[in-house]
Amino acid sequence: MRISMIGCGYLGAVHAACMAEIGHHVVGLDIDQRRIDSLSAGRAPFHEPGLPALLQRNVANGRLRFTTDPALIRDADLHFVGVGTPQLDGELGADTSYVDAALETILTHADRGDGTPALVVGKSTVPVGTAQRLLNRIHDAGSDLLLAWNPEFLREGHAVEDTLHPDRIVYGLPEDMEAGAAARALLDECYAPQLAAQTPVVVSNYPTAELVKVAANSFLATKISFINSMAELCDATGGDVTRLAEAIGFDDRIGSKFLQAGIGFGGGCLPKDIRAFMARADELGVDEALTFLQEVDAINLRRRHHAVALAEEAVGGSLQDKRVAVLGMTFKPDTDDLRDSPALDIADRILAAGAHVVVVDPAASEELRRRRPDLDVAHSVEEAVTGADVVMVLTPWKEYVTLDPTALLPLVKSPVIIDGRNVLDPHHWDAAGWTYLGMGRRVSTW
Ligand code: UGA
Repeated sequence: MRISMIGCGYLGAVHAACMAEIGHHVVGLDIDQRRIDSLSAGRAPFHEPGLPALLQRNVANGRLRFTTDPALIRDADLHFVGVGTPQLDGELGADTSYVDAALETILTHADRGDGTPALVVGKSTVPVGTAQRLLNRIHDAGSDLLLAWNPEFLREGHAVEDTLHPDRIVYGLPEDMEAGAAARALLDECYAPQLAAQTPVVVSNYPTAELVKVAANSFLATKISFINSMAELCDATGGDVTRLAEAIGFDDRIGSKFLQAGIGFGGGCLPKDIRAFMARADELGVDEALTFLQEVDAINLRRRHHAVALAEEAVGGSLQDKRVAVLGMTFKPDTDDLRDSPALDIADRILAAGAHVVVVDPAASEELRRRRPDLDVAHSVEEAVTGADVVMVLTPWKEYVTLDPTALLPLVKSPVIIDGRNVLDPHHWDAAGWTYLGMGRRVSTW
């Protein structure tokens, strides 16, 4: 099929490359010339395992092009919309203006050339009700474009795999049966390899499809905040939250995934999505349905405060002029994304408390050096920890999870390790002569 991808950010760049990989002819459109130049040269503008190979292969075979020229989307059968919906400045709600602008671009340029309507496929995370509003706009413009909502569930760091082999596909279709059937046929054709692999497809109306996305992210955020609230209880009682999570996770009604207590969730999705969901519920007059998400958000932000308090305690009360080494800056491993990163936020708070903060990260160091001259960005773990009063592991990159405490011991001023993600072995670090401080976890016999 001929496909256009409007918006070549995280979602769009990966989706465009994956659609080309499964055999479609794809044009990726974005307003950011530098991003387009990079993608056109087969270079991923962000760190995502597997993406560079896909880009190179499909740019080289001619199935994948990137452009800033909207006229080039003209003959596409499907126009995917994957632009950002960031949190509005000073408000909880989401800014959907880029989605509106994308639709206007499609309305201006789309023409399949054979008289049949193209299909607009929304992938951006939007407030419920947006799809219907966009359909109204299509009708008001006198256009026969079809519209479906097809939310995206990819995780950064696994984005290629999640797109090529999703665990489910959701089609949000218009109420009009004929339009819905036409939209579904085009989606089925587009996702033929995924359907052949028996990927479950859930067909629904627009509001359900829009809600599925924010419901999924809200559930994940709730699960993380739940286990972090248990970490608070463990800290108060001497319990170990990792054992607790292991034990409850064996119940397959609960499941063991997303029960990793620590400094909490961040990134470009979970925090903004739960806030936008609350704002939308408020507009709809059902704010009470989501009051619990306020608590989820509050528990999450409390983790950052707690990590700073632990660091303070570790250095004897005041961080003033202490040297704090922070290992890991991105919001999670296998990405260079610093958006709403708990690690960066904690580093900033420690900096504000008067400490000398030395940070290191396998993927974000260059960007931090450019953007944050106030942070001391080390080139290696060894450099970061040398002379440190306390060392904090805040993002569980593999190279930090497997650090050798014995090798690091002679480098630090004071051997205190704060395990912000509960990924280190407390006994191992304790036996090597370190004071181990976990998040709802301590060194204990059992
Ligand atoms: C999330 C969802 O997992 C995806 O399904 C969704 O498509 C995506 O948002 C999106 O809306 O686009 P992502 O932001 O890549 O994906 O990150 P996650 O893997 O969900 O992790 C989010 C945060 O939670 C990270 O900071 C991570 O460190 C933290 N986390 C995760 C925990 O603190 N504990 C856990 O047990 C799991």
